[in-house]
Amino acid sequence: MARVAVVGVGAIGGVLASLLETTGSHEITLCTRREMEALTVKTPDGVVSVRARNLTDPKQANAVDWVLVATKTYDAAGAGEWLRGLAKDGASVAVVQNGVEHRERFAPYVDAERIVPVVIDCPVERLADGSVVQRGKVTMKVQEGPLGGEFRELFKGSKVEIELVDDFKTAAWRKLCTNAAGAINALTMKPAGVFHDEAVGRLALGMIAEVVAVGRAEGARLDDSVGQQVLDLYRGQPADSVNSLLADRMAGRRMETDARNGVIVRLGETHGIATPLNWMAVTVLEA
Ligand SMILES: NC(=O)c1ccc[n+]([C@@H]2O[C@H](COP(=O)([O-])OP(=O)(O)OC[C@H]3O[C@@H](n4cnc5c(N)ncnc54)[C@H](OP(=O)(O)O)[C@@H]3O)[C@@H](O)[C@H]2O)c1
Repeated sequence: MARVAVVGVGAIGGVLASLLETTGSHEITLCTRREMEALTVKTPDGVVSVRARNLTDPKQANAVDWVLVATKTYDAAGAGEWLRGLAKDGASVAVVQNGVEHRERFAPYVDAERIVPVVIDCPVERLADGSVVQRGKVTMKVQEGPLGGEFRELFKGSKVEIELVDDFKTAAWRKLCTNAAGAINALTMKPAGVFHDEAVGRLALGMIAEVVAVGRAEGARLDDSVGQQVLDLYRGQPADSVNSLLADRMAGRRMETDARNGVIVRLGETHGIATPLNWMAVTVLEA
């Protein structure tokens, strides 16, 4: 049994909490900004009702064994407030977010050695009533090693595939290639079908080539076929498939533009690599 806190109980936090619930092994705390009367997650295997304590004020937080952070990347400072109490006795902190800067975002709040960056793939959304609908399987990737092993152990008995990878950096940059090109959906306000357009396909390949160049300079092992693989992935999706950046733009919510495209521009500058297509995407979306 472990004491596990989930900080940020939206789509991904909801799925993580339901996986923990189905292990039947943990004491779960849900850390939210607004009071949560109940958490119900509709999964492909049935509906899970999460039994957990709910806290809404970081000052109420007591020490736990594990913290799973699942806020949007731009809410790291607010999530960090929770860590002061939750991680005061040395809890491990899994950062389940997009991007390649999991450690950098949380290093101001917790010992970098205790941070476990996680890449997650899961089609999931949170409905207006606060319930969560998981539409497909959940897979996660973490760096192999003692903390990665402990993280996987937390979910033993639940329906999730957790891969311990020998090169997490490459896994995160590989996912960034997909996410960076996803800016095209938010720019055009069109779902996945837009990638069938020939010129849009070339634009996607150009954006991904920038990610590959910067990722390699950062130490990721990305081969030349990544761009085509990502394009094929988008072209293979249902034409009406909406990614989270487009969903956020359509709903008038803030977007994770910096974590998905801005990072390529920022790191590109440090390596002297030009990233004009990602810069354009950031500039237009932020404007
Ligand atoms: N959704 C997906 O399919 C998916 C797939 C792969 C990766 N991801 C990544 O996973 C991460 C989480 O995304 P998501 O889709 O789960 O986002 P989300 O549905 O917007 O959930 C984020 C939650 O964090 C909460 N939050 C923000 N600041 C907080 C604070 N200070 N204290 C407590 N809670 C706080 C928000 O609360 P409010 O309700 O008050 O706003 C919201 O409930 C992102 O990096 C995303 O890119 C998502």
